[in-house]
Amino acid sequence: MRKVSLDRARAGYRVARTILSLDGVVLLSAGTVLTDEMIATLESYNFTEIYIEDDLSRDIKNPEVVREEIVTEVKAKIKNIMTSPSIRISVDGKKILEIVDKLLGNILQSDQIVLNISDIRSIDDYTFSHSVNVCILSLIIGIAMGVKGDNLKDLGTGALLHDVGKVMVSEDILLKPSCLSKNEFEEAKRHTAYGYEILRNSSSINTAVQEIALYHHERLDGSGYPYGLKNSEIPLYARIVAVADVYDALTTDRVYRKKMLPHEVVDYMYSLSNKHFDRSVLDAFTKHVAHFPIGTAVLLNTGEKGLVSRYNPQFPNRPVIRIVMDEAGKMLVNHKEVDLSKRLEYRIIDIWDI
Ligand SMILES: [Fe+2]
Repeated sequence: MRKVSLDRARAGYRVARTILSLDGVVLLSAGTVLTDEMIATLESYNFTEIYIEDDLSRDIKNPEVVREEIVTEVKAKIKNIMTSPSIRISVDGKKILEIVDKLLGNILQSDQIVLNISDIRSIDDYTFSHSVNVCILSLIIGIAMGVKGDNLKDLGTGALLHDVGKVMVSEDILLKPSCLSKNEFEEAKRHTAYGYEILRNSSSINTAVQEIALYHHERLDGSGYPYGLKNSEIPLYARIVAVADVYDALTTDRVYRKKMLPHEVVDYMYSLSNKHFDRSVLDAFTKHVAHFPIGTAVLLNTGEKGLVSRYNPQFPNRPVIRIVMDEAGKMLVNHKEVDLSKRLEYRIIDIWDI
């Protein structure tokens, strides 16, 4: 399979992965041959990309850390919880723990840890996808840093609920496509304190979880909010969730900006290492995140073009590439594979669209 932007998808392409709406309704099944009407439907749901199967990408498989149907089920549960009227007062910690247990069971079962979170989603789907993705990412970082047992569950619970306070902030502010005024920005920032209050009122939610909601926008150099805490004044779990939160937000299309590519976000976050983000958290994270997701089309320094076909778990930034076009721009009949972890003269210099 390979990933193409929806505006480059054409009638006749075969869908590689089932596309579900947020409510779990199948919009298109894997194997369906696209028509113009189907493309228009996906556009109306605000999808921007799609995985397709074709001769170029035959046998390229995209391993999932958490099965797609589990992610969809969990997103629907979170949507239910987050849209119930009682969420403005408190949340049932036991229900959240069931969700964390489900995700954790899946992550721990997974035989490969290099992460490629489900990255095809509608813009409308953001709030609930974001909570679930931040939870999955935080758990993976936590496991890599040696967090275990109930502590890992606290981390997952706090990650899932880190933005719960946003239910108290008006949607006009949260979804505003232009710059916020000073007052609007101050109100948006209050989601941290609102979340802390909701979690303090909640059953089966402990202090470590409450602090994640309160401190996940604090930054190591004191430039964050609400208190401008520095370094170890910020609890470790909030430092972990901060990395997961920013990574997922920047790799997602939003109404007010286009997404960045995973490797660009990794570079950007490293440029803020020990200023905004904890270096040890970033190191654990970047070892387990796919810098170039499988199926991504890339340009190499040799001028050749290819598709990311497999990961090297030891070198997540140097995957195996299937070369499909030579340096003169001629499509190859016989594709060749180059393992970037062994061929150090090769470098990925850009992403392209076939
Ligand atoms: Fe937040």
